[in-house]
Amino acid sequence: MFRSLHIVITGGATGLGYAIAEALAGQGARLTLLSRKAEKLQFAAQELRRRHPNVDIEVRPLDVSDPIAACKVIDEIARHRGGIDALFNNAGVMLEGRFEDLTPDDFAAVITTNFFGAVNVARAVLPHLRASGGRLVNIASVAGLTGTFGFTAYGSAKHALVGFTDCLYYEMLGEGVKVHLVCPAEFETPMVAELDSYRTPENLRHTNAIPRTALDTVVADILKGLRKEQYLIIPGAYTRLVVRALQLFPNTMRRIGARLVRKH
Ligand SMILES: NC(=O)c1ccc[n+]([C@@H]2O[C@H](COP(=O)([O-])OP(=O)(O)OC[C@H]3O[C@@H](n4cnc5c(N)ncnc54)[C@H](OP(=O)(O)O)[C@@H]3O)[C@@H](O)[C@H]2O)c1
Repeated sequence: MFRSLHIVITGGATGLGYAIAEALAGQGARLTLLSRKAEKLQFAAQELRRRHPNVDIEVRPLDVSDPIAACKVIDEIARHRGGIDALFNNAGVMLEGRFEDLTPDDFAAVITTNFFGAVNVARAVLPHLRASGGRLVNIASVAGLTGTFGFTAYGSAKHALVGFTDCLYYEMLGEGVKVHLVCPAEFETPMVAELDSYRTPENLRHTNAIPRTALDTVVADILKGLRKEQYLIIPGAYTRLVVRALQLFPNTMRRIGARLVRKH
C-alpha cells in the first residue's frame, strides 16, 4: 500500500512516529521525518538506514507550532521530493497535573503544540495531498474522547484535535483527500517514560484503567485501519472495547472513572 509513496511524519524521530517510520520503511515507502531537534532526527535516520539499507529517508527540523515555518518546510519538501502522498500529524507533548497547578504558559504550550501544531501542518500539507489524492492521519488519543484526571491541558488539546479532524473529514470528502483519526490509549514511549516520573497517582490509576498497548500493536493496528480505509482507528482490542463502552454507556463509564479516581 505504501511502496514508493512519499510519507511525511511529524515527531518522527522517537516513539510512535519513529515506529511508524520503521514499519513504512519495511514496506518500501519514501520517508521525510520532522521534529524540532536536528540531532534526534539524524540519529533516527541513521538507525533506519542501518535497519533498512535501501530506505529513502530525509529529515528536516521543524517546530510545528510555527505556522509560517510549517508552510515553508512542507512546500520545500513537496517540491524537492516530487509531492507528498501522506502526512502523519503525530508531533506532541505531554503535561500532566491538576488544572490549578498548571500555569497559563504551561497550559498554552500544550494546546499550541498538540492542537495548533497539527492544524498548522494540516493547512500546509492539504494542497499537496489534494494534488496526490493522498491521506492525512491525525494522531489524537483516547484522552480526546473522554475526560481524564490531570489532563485538562492535554485532554483539551486532543478533544480539539478530534473535533477538528471530524470537521475536516467532511470538508475533504469532495476533494480526494482521505482523513483519518487515530485515538490510542497509553503505550510505552519516551513521552510516557517522562510522564511516569512525575504524574499524580490519580492520573496513573485513571489512565491505566486501560492497560498499556504494545507499541508494535499500535503501529500494526494503525496501518491495518488505513488499509481498510477506516476513519476512526482505535489501536488495541481492549481499547476498542472501552471506547465502544464510552460511546454506548457514557454515564456508567463516568461512574466507573469517578470510582477509580475517588479511591486514590
Ligand atoms: N505514548 C502514549 O501513550 C500516547 C497515547 C496516545 C496518544 N499519543 C500521541 O502520540 C503522539 C506521539 O507521541 P509519543 O508517545 O511517540 O511521544 P514522543 O516519543 O515524545 O514523540 C513526540 C515527538 O514529537 C516531537 N515534537 C514535540 N513537540 C514538537 C514541536 N513543537 N514540533 C515538532 N515536533 C515536536 C518530539 O521531537 P522533538 O523534541 O525533537 O521536537 C518527538 O519526536 C503524540 O501526539 C501523543 O500525544 C501518545
